[in-house]
Order: sequence, then C-alpha cells, then structure tokens
Amino acid sequence: MSAARRRPLSFSAFVMNTASHITHGLWRDPAGGQIDFNSLDLWVDLAKQLEAGGFDVIFFADVVGVYGGYRGGWAHHAELGLQIPSNDPLVILSALASHTEHLGLAFTAGPIQEPPFNFARRVATLDHASNGRIAWNIVTSVLENAWRNFGHDSRLAHDSRYQLAEEYVDVLYKLWEGSWEDDALRADRASGIYADPSKIHKINHVSDNYRVEGPFLVSPSPQRTPLLFQAGSSPAGRNFAARNAEAQFIVSPDPDNARKLIDDTRGLVAGHGRNPDDLRFFQGLSFVIGSSEAEARAKEAELEEKIDVDGMIAHFGGSLGVDLGEYEPDTPIDVIHTEGGQSGLAWLRESAGGRTPTLEDVVRLRAKNTRVVGTPEQIADALWRWRDAGVDGINVVNSTIPGSYTEFIEYVLPVLRERGLARKRYEPGTLRAKLFGSDRLSARHPAARYRGAFRPAAALS
Ligand SMILES: Cc1cc2nc3c(=O)[nH]c(=O)nc-3n(C[C@H](O)[C@H](O)[C@H](O)COP(=O)(O)O)c2cc1C
Repeated sequence: MSAARRRPLSFSAFVMNTASHITHGLWRDPAGGQIDFNSLDLWVDLAKQLEAGGFDVIFFADVVGVYGGYRGGWAHHAELGLQIPSNDPLVILSALASHTEHLGLAFTAGPIQEPPFNFARRVATLDHASNGRIAWNIVTSVLENAWRNFGHDSRLAHDSRYQLAEEYVDVLYKLWEGSWEDDALRADRASGIYADPSKIHKINHVSDNYRVEGPFLVSPSPQRTPLLFQAGSSPAGRNFAARNAEAQFIVSPDPDNARKLIDDTRGLVAGHGRNPDDLRFFQGLSFVIGSSEAEARAKEAELEEKIDVDGMIAHFGGSLGVDLGEYEPDTPIDVIHTEGGQSGLAWLRESAGGRTPTLEDVVRLRAKNTRVVGTPEQIADALWRWRDAGVDGINVVNSTIPGSYTEFIEYVLPVLRERGLARKRYEPGTLRAKLFGSDRLSARHPAARYRGAFRPAAALS
C-alpha cells in the first residue's frame, strides 16, 4: 500500500429524503426516524450529529421517478414507501449549511432534471452559502419513468446517457470555471465598482442539446465547481468517472473485488491525464455493532427479521428494469430469464456457495455482503482490509436514522481514530480542501481548460 493510501478513511452518511431508501421495512421500526423525513428537524439534527462525530459528508441519494414495475406497476412501491414519497434534497441543503461548519453536503441530480444554466446557478449559490462545502453526485437517471417526467418519450440508451452527461458538465464547467476571472469581483466601495466587466465573459456555448450565452450570474464561489461524485460502474460509467469525478461511490462485494475495480479505474484516470489519486473511492457498507460478536450476531438476526424482503425484491428488480413480482421469493434465480439481470446475478451465485440462490437469497446476500457485523475492534479490522484494497472512504448505509449513525459515532469511530483509520479533527477550509488540499479543481481536470478561455483574445487550446 502506498503512503497516500495510508491516510485516514473519509466517512459519508448515505441517506435519502424519503422513508425507505435501501434497507426496506425499517421505517416501521420504532427507532426508524426516517418515517418523519418531511421534517427538516430530522435532517438538521442528523447533520449536527454527524459533524459533532467527525463525518466528512452527508450524501443524499435521489431519483426523479418511480422504479420499474413490480407485479405490473408501482402501486406496491407506494405501499412500501419505496423511495416514494420523496423530497428534493437540494432544497434542504441551505438549512443544513447554516447549522454546520465543516460537514460536506452532497446531493444527487442528473442532466434531465434542469437546464444547465439554472442548475449551475443554484449549485454555485449553495457553494457560497456553505462556504464551499457542496458536492454533486452526477447520475444519468436510469429510471424510465424519470425520463417521461421530464418530457422524453423514453430513456436514452445507456452510453448515450453518459454522452449527454458529458455535454451537460461541459456547459457547467464553462459557467463555473470560465465565465468569471478570479479577480473580476471588486466590491470596492471607494471606486464604486462592484464587478469588473472586462473580466466577466459570455461563454457562447452551442452543442447538440444546449445553447447557453452567459455570462454566468454568480460570482466565483469558494470551490467554483462543486466537489464531483459519481456512482455508475459500467464501462461507460467508469470512464465518465475517470474523466470527471473526484470521488466514486462503489459497492463491491469484498475487498478483493474492490481492489480490482479501483486499480482498473485508477488506470483509466491516468489515461485521462489525471493523477490516479485524483479520484477517491467510497465503498458502501452497513454496520451491526455489538459489545461482543455474539451480541452483534443477535442484533443482525433481529435486523434480518425486520427487513421487508418484498421491498428488497421490488427495488432490486426495479433497478434492473425487470418485474420480479411474478415470482415467489423462494424461486431459484436461474428460472428468471433476463439479459440485463443474468450478468448482474453471476457473483451472487458464487456468494451462495455454488448452489442456485433463490430470489430471497439474492436480496439478503446483496445486503449481507456489504454488512460488517461485530465488535468495534472487529469492524476496525475489516475497515483496515478495505483500506488496504485501495478504498479511500466509507459510505455508511443506515438501517435507522439517526440510530445507525449514533452507534457508529459512539462506538466505532473512537476505535478507528486510535488505529489511524479515521481523522482526529477537521482540516480547515472547503470540502475539496479537506479532501484534496485545494479549494479548486486541479489543473489536470477537464474543467480547468476553461479558466481564462473566454477572454476576448483567448483561444481554446
Ligand atoms: C452507492 C450508489 C449510489 C447511487 N445513488 C444513486 C442515486 O441517488 N440516484 C440515481 O439515480 N442513481 C444512483 N445510483 C446509480 C448510479 O448512478 C448509476 O445510474 C447506476 O449504477 C447505473 O450506472 P452504470 O450502468 O454506469 O453502472 C447509485 C449507485 C451507487 C453504487
């Protein structure tokens, strides 16, 4: 492991502004505060708690449509609260910004949701309001219904969605990095000059899907471009991340698989002229913590009882675009024929020890493979192995809000700190400065080429 990899892990709290995000059924638990997700207090209290505990980021997932059908439609999703109802994460971030000082504030959005000019403006406004703590998880919206909610007949083909995302971020980079020069804002009472127009430029962007004249209306915010996250792991998704992202959310079944994925993606990053360490990897994991291993195992058994298997199957099928509702949970998966599904299910067969798993096995195994169960010391041992595999951060999946985070902060983080696996205090400055030591995107990032590019005499290299 290189010296760089020996740095402490970063920690992100993986949430969604909805009652049932990933661990379905747990909103029914008396400890499941997510039932009250409409209440701003839930999120403000959580953000404050995460900051007091030393988390790096609160990360809101989001979708803008219902998942694909289950038993022929989406009625079941509404009954289970499966990511419907859900609220816009971006709207509440300014409230979280005003109640915290260090916590990174990450939200999810994709190109179909908003024209780039307005999106750039809202995000830059938040970056100002949070003193540079905003991060954007760039998604390409996999749900068919989401596309129809934004005026499209159907979803674009997979790789075309990533091409659209490239086109979208290109406009954003021009607005965020190129439209205003660093010293354009004067706010000079003596001379009466608020901003120097010779240093503010139109971008005159024209591409297949976007025409944006500019200039950008927001003056340079602390990070300018928000910290960029991405979460797709297909070849096109990884290539997009390798070019654009600064952190990637991954969900590998074990450290060996993570190592392969990370090494491979870091190679792609280098291929785009960036340093391999310009992209950080956050592995999604959940935790069941006990004062003894036996206690942790007993808690895990209780958790398994509470998980709504039907909801897990509906979500899994919905992400694959396959209606799994016609099958009973004990159906062996090789009875289910789907092109997309079969490749995704291959490793689950291996996880089930060679026997053909049932649908219920599949969803339970998916949750179990990324669940760490044990004492805080055992959890620290496990996280050591993930870090050894090249993982830079952990995206902590919850069962209950705030309970899963309260326990992690109280019992696990102190042990991680002792072992050098977690930071002891916040670094000063913006989110990017905390993670990368600099407020601004590095000169190696594709956005950097727009710096100074729109000066009247400048020509793009
Ligand atoms: C940890 C994690 C979080 C994700 N969060 C979201 C999300 O909030 N919204 C969304 O539309 N997709 C989300 N995704 C899905 C990815 O963005 C992506 O659309 C999906 O993995 C398919 O892309 P791919 O074909 O490149 O793998 C997430 C994926 C992962 C691994």
